[in-house]
Amino acid sequence: MVIFRLRHAHKRHYAILCLGIVGFIIYYYSSMQPGVRKQTRREGLSANSSQFTLEGEAFRILGGSAHYFRIPRAHWKDRLLKMKACGLNTLTTYVPWNLHEPERGLFTFQDQLDLEAYLRLAAEVGLWVILRPGPYICSEWDLGGLPSWLLRDRNMKLRTTYPGFADAVGSFFDKLIRRVAPLQYMKGGPIIAVQVENEYGSYAKDEKYMPFIKEALLSRGITELLLTSDNREGLKHGGLNGVLKTINFQKLNLQAIQYLDAVQPRRPKLVMEYWAGWFDLWGDLHHIFAAEDMIAVVTEILKQGMSINLYMFHGGTNFGFMSGALATPSPRAMVTSYDYDAPLSEAGDYTPKYHLLRDLLSRYHSENLPAKPAPYWRKAYDAVVVYQHLPLWDTLKLIEEPFKSASPLNMENLPVNNGNGQSYGYTLYETMVTSGGTLNSRNNVRDRALVFVDRVYMGVLDYKTQELAVPDGKGERSLSLLVENCGRVNYGKALDEQRKGLVGDIVLNNTPLKDFTMYCLDMKPSFINRLAGERWKSLPHTPTFPGFFQGQLVVDGYPRDSFLKLPGWGKGVVFINGQNLGRHWSIGPQQTLYLPGPWLNKGVNQVTSTDHSVENQGDLTPEV
Ligand code: GLA
Repeated sequence: MVIFRLRHAHKRHYAILCLGIVGFIIYYYSSMQPGVRKQTRREGLSANSSQFTLEGEAFRILGGSAHYFRIPRAHWKDRLLKMKACGLNTLTTYVPWNLHEPERGLFTFQDQLDLEAYLRLAAEVGLWVILRPGPYICSEWDLGGLPSWLLRDRNMKLRTTYPGFADAVGSFFDKLIRRVAPLQYMKGGPIIAVQVENEYGSYAKDEKYMPFIKEALLSRGITELLLTSDNREGLKHGGLNGVLKTINFQKLNLQAIQYLDAVQPRRPKLVMEYWAGWFDLWGDLHHIFAAEDMIAVVTEILKQGMSINLYMFHGGTNFGFMSGALATPSPRAMVTSYDYDAPLSEAGDYTPKYHLLRDLLSRYHSENLPAKPAPYWRKAYDAVVVYQHLPLWDTLKLIEEPFKSASPLNMENLPVNNGNGQSYGYTLYETMVTSGGTLNSRNNVRDRALVFVDRVYMGVLDYKTQELAVPDGKGERSLSLLVENCGRVNYGKALDEQRKGLVGDIVLNNTPLKDFTMYCLDMKPSFINRLAGERWKSLPHTPTFPGFFQGQLVVDGYPRDSFLKLPGWGKGVVFINGQNLGRHWSIGPQQTLYLPGPWLNKGVNQVTSTDHSVENQGDLTPEV
């Protein structure tokens, strides 16, 4: 018995010792991995010398941007695993205020917008996070991520301490920071740094603003390293005391690096946005930034001992009406795809950039990189035969709140959406005229209006064309302007002027038109789903434009990603089972729309498309 006991005790000590050693090894390695428990954390990301340190050890940020709001949730993990396998160690993401607070005081952080789930997933995959909560994010995103309802206030001064803006930021941050603060490094989460606003040095309208945003973060519990991000020009006016300055560029800009060093000596240098590619505009050329050129710049940045974040590592898609616009010389809207010519394509495919980058980054790791996840399958489906048609005019009766007013009201000030106005889509303005003559927009159309008299198409009014001839006719006739919001400007000093629809008078023979009825056509899923109950007509040989078109996509087997091609279609939007895939426009450069497999059902899927091109006479068969 005794011997048995002694030997037993001996074994137990041995087991305890082994467990202790294993525990220590896990503790040691886990303290340098994202997503571990609190007690292992002693010192977060620090920028007190020329190198970053994490837990007191030298640390280089190898970052990549990928935005949860641009990637179907079911694909988040795939994209993050591919990021990790490429040799990156840090995910950077913006937070789009306009999606999280679509109406003032109505917050959503669920499903596609479950930011906490995205951050936890990053930790699970082994990535640190730099969070870029804005409130302004730029990012080729409508109004740089600011909610359009802010513009209901005629005196609004976005990105300043104007109380109407500052208070709204405060209530958004109350909700947002409460969710992300527990996911900071010292609390056991993956967030190692937080960016204060975005490129404010290029805006710089209010010197009290950046200290206000900094304080808004600190007072709500942000404790990790703070940083600002600016381009070369913006760096002159950007930055904040006690906050790390970082720089953004595409071509290697040695002067910019030297300048950063001069204004911020003995601090780590981070290229917060190394633009791995670029975005596209409708009617413009597709941007490509050669893989070899990208690799040459990344190689040099790393050689210089700097940290880097690739903007974008994976661009994804501006689903819905969310793409932004450039302001100058006149507003030009951005396409739906945010492929960005990034290392991972819009659909998450490996590109030559990915392979070259992985090869390069593998030299900066002592261990082998994780294996690359298998490519995600895509599928070519049979063409969708469009067989049903509904003229836009027949759908107006479904709009609950047509609104009458003597003068036209801009979208944001329409009394719809619980007092938040209309954010996106189209607004139809109708009035009566008793004569023909010259119709002049006085440049009050934002951004593009199709003009009809007695619902017969007359032409387009936009930034270029501001005048149209209206033929004479008998008696009272209806004059309709279907105004499309093509996307709000996201960069530059004109943010306060981004109201859409008709922003002033339209004149006929120099007399302002009066007594409008206005229809909000924001094309939310509820509206698109309501269309299903309407009496669709079988597609006539010459359908009425503008209109809705419907067909079915039959998926047999497991739904896979695909691309939708719209040969012969003009301009509009496509919905799949009520979900907005984004805008299409035959002028390109974008030719197809990304169709995520997780948004498809096995069996029958409803494809609804609008075409507002009027000139269109094509064969309307979307191909997938
Ligand atoms: C700036 C912004 C980003 C993005 C890029 C261009 O650097 O900070 O949000 O708009 O330009 O893609």
